[in-house]
Formats: sequence, C-alpha cells, structure tokens
Amino acid sequence: MRPQLVFLGAPGSGKGTQAGKLVSELNYSHVSTGDLLRAEIAKKSALGQRVSAIINEGKLVDDQTVLDLLKANCDVSSKQYIFDGFPRNDVQAQMLDEQILGKVQYKVFYFDIDLDLLANRLTNRRTCSSCGAIFNLLTKPVKKEGVCDICSSPLIQRKDDKPETVEQRLNVFRDTVGPLLDFYGSKGDLVKLDATQSFEEIYKNIVSNL
Ligand code: AP5
Ligand code: MG
Repeated sequence: MRPQLVFLGAPGSGKGTQAGKLVSELNYSHVSTGDLLRAEIAKKSALGQRVSAIINEGKLVDDQTVLDLLKANCDVSSKQYIFDGFPRNDVQAQMLDEQILGKVQYKVFYFDIDLDLLANRLTNRRTCSSCGAIFNLLTKPVKKEGVCDICSSPLIQRKDDKPETVEQRLNVFRDTVGPLLDFYGSKGDLVKLDATQSFEEIYKNIVSNL
C-alpha cells in the first residue's frame, strides 16, 4: 500500500497542482485545508464567516479550528491522502502525528523554492470555479480565455491572490517554516523537491520517492 503524503511548501510552490495529478493518476485522495476553509466561506457557514477575514488578510486560522475541520474530512484507515496545507507550523505537525496519522506510514515532501519567485505565480493563478483545476496565465494557460480546459466552467481568481495579501502570506510562511522543517528533518522523514522545475519533472520526483 502507498504511504499517506504530507505536502509542505510556500504559497504558490505547487502543492495543489501536484496533488491534482496524483489524484487522477494514482488514485490518491486530496485534502487541502485551504480548500476546506474556502468551501466553508462559500457556504456562509458560521465557521466560514469567522475565518473569511483572516484568510483574505493572508493570516493563519487558529490551529484547533483547522485540525477539527481536517479530522472531519479524512479517514486514514480507509484511504491514502495527500495532506496539503496542513501542517503549517510545528504545533500542527505534532497534532497531525498524534491525532490523525498515528501509526500509519507517511512520507513528507517539501516544495523548495525561492520565495521571490512566488508572487508572480500567485497573482497569475486562475482556478476553476467548479472542478478546482489550477491554471496560470503565464505557465499553464487555458485554451479558451476564462474557461476551464477540463469542465468548461468559468475560471476565478482567489481573493487571497491580490498582491498585498500575497506579500503577507509569504511573510507568514517565512516566519513559520523553520521549526516545521526541523520537526520532520529530525525524524529523517523529509524529501526535498526542487519546486522550480517543470510540472512533469516535479511529478516524476515525487513518484520516484513513493
Ligand atoms: P492554502 O489554500 O493552503 O494556500 P497556500 O498554502 O498559500 O498555497 P497555495 O494554494 O496558494 O499554493 P500551492 O502550493 O497549492 O500552489 P498551486 O499548485 O496552486 O491556504 C489558504 C489560506 O487558508 C491560508 O493563507 C490560511 O489563511 C488558511 N489555512 C489553510 N491551511 C491552514 C492551516 N493548516 N492552518 C491555518 N490556516 C490555514 O500553484 C500556484 C500557481 O503556480 C498556479 O497558477 C500553478 O499553475 C503554478 N505552478 C505550479 N507549479 C508550477 C511549476 N512547477 N512551474 C510553473 N508554474 C507552476
Ligand atoms: Mg493550494
């Protein structure tokens, strides 16, 4: 059986893109805490209303709220997941280990890239409003402007991909990534990916490390 996967990396480093390919090609299940939180905002649930401003300002939602949401949306005893966007700090890493993964086998990938390259990627990202497919005006353009190549639904731009919010998200990442990498580095579980490579090369590197 393949291991559960944990994807770490800065905003825009390519976690969601690679997760999408692993879902379609290797039958992984993708659980992205950012997607779960955005779904709560779209539903206008009490949780969504509480976190909306925090996300749109590029700050982190509190650890317990995100952990509870994640727990309600995954079951590692029956599926192989890609955990995307959780953990974001060493406290969440400990929570994931103790309260979700337990003794199951997992592998951690770190999407390593110079943060200066990411603002451009993020402000040019477009996402399908229906199937969630991820595109980019510069590096992964769609065939017909504004329309998803896969399901023909309209594309949208994430609210937190505005330049000022992007800056804040990158700062939050800079401030939290050190202890997170130390946590997994000291366990000897960390695979570093060169996230400046092409979509295909990164995918090949992930698969060769499974
Ligand atoms: P979340 O949705 O997780 O956003 P993120 O971590 O900031 O990551 P992104 O989704 O922006 O980037 P990605 O790595 O998935 O890149 P992608 O593949 O799309 O979180 C959003 C917010 O929710 C947080 O800010 C926080 O408020 C809250 N939140 C979520 N989890 C939380 C938690 N655990 N605790 C607390 N708060 C939490 O690619 C980006 C673009 O680059 C695309 O356009 C893509 O086409 C392009 N691209 C990808 N790969 C390549 C490549 N190799 N070459 C060229 N272009 C590429
Ligand atoms: Mg993502």
